[in-house]
Amino acid sequence: MWSDLKAHFGTVKDQRFEMLVDEARAEAFSVEINDMRLDYAKTNINAEGRALLIDLLDAAGVAEKRDQMFAGAKINETEGRAVLHTALRNLDGGPVMVDEDDVMPSVLQTLDRMSAFAASVRDGSFTGQGGKITDVINIGIGGSDLGPAMAVLALAPYHDGPCCHFVSNVDPADIADTLRKCDPATTLVIVASKTFTTIETMTNARTALAWMGEAVDTPGDQFAALSTAEDKITAFGIASERVFGFEDWVGGRYSMWGPIGLSLMIAIGPDAFKSFLRGGQAMDRHFQAAAWDENMPALLALVGIWHNQVCRHATRAVLPYDNNLSRLPAYLQQLEMESNGKGVSMDGADLSVPSGPVVWGEPGTNGQHAFYQLIHQGTRVIPCEFLVAARGHEDELHHQHQLLVANCLAQSEALMRGRTLDEARAKVAGTFEGDELERQARHRVFPGNRPSVTLTYPKLTPFVFGQIIALYEHRVFVEGVVLGINSYDQWGVELGKELATALQPVVEGNETADGKDGSTAALVDYLQKHGV
Ligand code: F6P
Repeated sequence: MWSDLKAHFGTVKDQRFEMLVDEARAEAFSVEINDMRLDYAKTNINAEGRALLIDLLDAAGVAEKRDQMFAGAKINETEGRAVLHTALRNLDGGPVMVDEDDVMPSVLQTLDRMSAFAASVRDGSFTGQGGKITDVINIGIGGSDLGPAMAVLALAPYHDGPCCHFVSNVDPADIADTLRKCDPATTLVIVASKTFTTIETMTNARTALAWMGEAVDTPGDQFAALSTAEDKITAFGIASERVFGFEDWVGGRYSMWGPIGLSLMIAIGPDAFKSFLRGGQAMDRHFQAAAWDENMPALLALVGIWHNQVCRHATRAVLPYDNNLSRLPAYLQQLEMESNGKGVSMDGADLSVPSGPVVWGEPGTNGQHAFYQLIHQGTRVIPCEFLVAARGHEDELHHQHQLLVANCLAQSEALMRGRTLDEARAKVAGTFEGDELERQARHRVFPGNRPSVTLTYPKLTPFVFGQIIALYEHRVFVEGVVLGINSYDQWGVELGKELATALQPVVEGNETADGKDGSTAALVDYLQKHGV
């Protein structure tokens, strides 16, 4: 399969694909569901390439694995767990079985409890010692931070609850800067940690508890906890009515659909949160039912596989022309790189192709004035993914939104078309002549033929946002199955955690750096001389 794709790539890699992009190709290489449109016409994937890519899905058994995932099979084999974040948004679906038990009654009961609590914080029936809650601080890291932090920003136009803050870094600057902005008497602290052992989160949670304890009599009353480890929460002193549990079949980076989304729910309200869930569920249904050549997550995955594993473009830029999605690239970094950044397949063998890509990006138009230079004229090809809404939420500034859209479309067009030497010469002909004209013209050539996809949607509502996030989740699933890896563990984060634990007493000066490598020992020495 891979060799067929490699051979096919050899036949298309020098073709200029902009020659092919007419109306018919735009229709044949785009897909529309629930008003969202994914255009992948500006790539060098042709009908034969797409068919070969779809063969990969069949060879890897993606349909069977997908059905197993939705049915609660333990497809996270290295941890012996089911992968069922989809159950968290299965609002009006049927039962979902894990180990012969239907998990839906408990999922829906937790959703009801979250909704009641969020409503009470929003309407002031739950108060802090100083009255109505004005600020919510979510303390968590990785999946217990990136999802809700990104989502609260994404859905800012719907935010009518208390101000939300997110603290993740163990760097004391993070929590100190946040606490300074809040009044402890009217602040709710949410400790979000699947395991309730993550050192950054537990350290920040203790700092927040001490801060609140200096100002209010019973600080634990203004704390809530979100975790799978309810026993550990009791030891922390948070009453069970403010504990929202979930099961180990929800991976951290897939968890904002359930209790980890509490801060989002408090920000936008339970009804809008449910609309977000419904968007995710709509994408689930599409993913389960659509044929591969009309299946948006599968097609997005195949475009990614084509660019990364076949064309060997190692990175992927995510470029939302939607300022409210400014944290989407950071969120996708964890979703994609923690899920598919693995070199060993399910059976323990080395991968024969590269693992998932480096994902990075920033919102447009900001990126245009920063790193797009390299995307347009650098020597590496960077496949780009643009996102843009037809309308913003600022109706009175719609003309500004139109300018944003024009910029987004211009970038993908420029990447595809480029500018030839002749065109560049014509640009500078009035200003330079002779050798200088030639030299100046060469700097103004754009190679073009650079691929991009564009995801468009009517407006970034909670429902549309839910669809987008579920789209990316399923894309990661498909890529993982094709690569034959387990997208749902993250052993690669363990070594650094172990070494940090061992280094802490060395940094504190309670142990020597004996046994450490020379570089690490010298760095410790330097930092100690400068007061660490
Ligand atoms: O160390 C990585 C990781 O386990 C992520 O997968 C996870 O999202 C994050 O840490 C936070 O974990 P927890 O929610 O258990 O605190």
